[in-house]
Amino acid sequence: MSAVDLSSEIHRRRTFAIISHPDAGKTTLTEKLLLYGGAIHLAGSVKARKAQRHAVSDWMEIEKQRGISVTSSVMQFDYDGYRINILDTPGHQDFSEDTYRTLMAVDSAVMIIDVAKGVEAQTKKLFKVCKQRGIPIFTFVNKLDRFGKNPFELMEELEKVLEIRAYPMNWPIGIDGDYKGVYNRQKAQIELFAEEGSHGQKVLPSVVGQVDDPAFTEMLGSDLHKALCEDIELLDMAGDSFDFEKVRQGELTPMFFGSAMTNFGVRNFLEEFLRLAPPPAPRLSSAGLVQPEDQQFSAFVFKIQANMNPAHRDRLAFIRICSGQFTRGMSVYHEKTGKVLKLAQPQQFLAQDRTIIDEAYPGDIVGLFDPGIFGIGDTLCEQGQTFTFEDFPVFPPERFARVQAKDTMKRKQFVKGITQLTQEGAVQLFRQADAGTESYIIGTVGSLQFDVLEYRLKNEYGVDLLMNHLPFELARWLDGQDVKPSSLRGADRGMFVYDVKERPVLLVSNEWALRWVADNNPDIRFLATPADRPPIE
Ligand code: G4P
Repeated sequence: MSAVDLSSEIHRRRTFAIISHPDAGKTTLTEKLLLYGGAIHLAGSVKARKAQRHAVSDWMEIEKQRGISVTSSVMQFDYDGYRINILDTPGHQDFSEDTYRTLMAVDSAVMIIDVAKGVEAQTKKLFKVCKQRGIPIFTFVNKLDRFGKNPFELMEELEKVLEIRAYPMNWPIGIDGDYKGVYNRQKAQIELFAEEGSHGQKVLPSVVGQVDDPAFTEMLGSDLHKALCEDIELLDMAGDSFDFEKVRQGELTPMFFGSAMTNFGVRNFLEEFLRLAPPPAPRLSSAGLVQPEDQQFSAFVFKIQANMNPAHRDRLAFIRICSGQFTRGMSVYHEKTGKVLKLAQPQQFLAQDRTIIDEAYPGDIVGLFDPGIFGIGDTLCEQGQTFTFEDFPVFPPERFARVQAKDTMKRKQFVKGITQLTQEGAVQLFRQADAGTESYIIGTVGSLQFDVLEYRLKNEYGVDLLMNHLPFELARWLDGQDVKPSSLRGADRGMFVYDVKERPVLLVSNEWALRWVADNNPDIRFLATPADRPPIE
């Protein structure tokens, strides 16, 4: 492929995730974006969804039963010449490492905030990962059709809680809970909510000019117009100016007000987002920055998923392409094993529909059949190259349980299932010192992961689990000379275990217990993640 063609494929791609606290409207907004892109044709109206109780991106049975999205999937569609990849992240209070890892594969993020609730707990956690990666974050303040917080208050909240400054791209007109529409600062135009039931917005004949245009007084009435002028003046004088570079660095977030349910402001948001969001960026590797325009193909594995379709017992590795062109049947070098692999049946997704693809470009996500050799974070590149992409962060587990098969005759399947789910990165596995394979200690980031573990072992491996939750909240990797249970003073204050790489780890119930053990073992370092892996704070 010519350099020009590759470059234009790259520049039209936008790969992003939508992050939010449950119920802020992620599913609704995603559906609206898919509708605009023609990727779904059913007006996935909220009412229809109510009956269905799950979004288009949910596929696992457990997700359907609960109406939540547990694992991430990918949605690709076109809009106005752009090729869009939305990576879905779980919309449940609880989350797993999978969510975090997905954020390693995107170039930007859309943060949805409920106008009445402001910044909520999960948004904060997900935001932190985005901030750490330095990717641009776009804010969509949702549910503007309802009573909510004052927009200035929301801007302040973003700054105080998330430490990011916001640049409102549009501004609500009216009084909280009774907004008439928004003022579009870029286009200096007024966009009003359309009449009840017509699902959309009415853009008033674009009066290009200033906010104090007398024509606006006629439309809004003098009180509303006066209040709007004062707000905009305040924003212009005291607010940040729009600095594209700061947006790209993740230091300033363009803020949009709208309502996903009533469709208000969604198209405008999509178009502005596509215009401002970055195409695939260069990625750091052991050989320096890898540019997407490099003709040599490269990618990394960010997610592994087994048994996605009960009809085919398969295991898929999801890769994010970083450079060059991907073609079906190509041979690539798998750095970790030193093997050359032929990628015969690459898959692309729109939720449950899989299609075999012939080619893909930087920014795209491809699902590969995994014969059991891929691991999270693995690098794939062209033969002759030997670099690796930077390591994935490790997420310290916070919940622990001892698990074993109810039926001891099922031990073999039990070990197989646990091993598989550990390789997928669904849970973290530990072995108690001096224990065999009858039972394992499982560590997770959120408690939902235990439900998923239980469900999948039963449904995919036919194993019923006995699970005892353990009273520990912290895991510390022990870094020191020949650390053993017998040589660690106060080991009985917690549980001494080994991780899958046989590194010693101590599980303790709280910071107090940890401090006691640390004080009594000054020669040992107590690390929140293994010494060789970058942590997420
Ligand atoms: P999530 O994926 O972030 O968890 O949120 P989701 O889109 O499922 O939306 C959560 C609830 O908020 C839904 O109501 C949805 O209809 C509502 N919602 C989404 N966008 C808007 C909006 O712009 N305005 C208003 N007023 N509501 C909005 P629900 O009653 O929980 O679900 P349903 O029974 O309507 O499906």
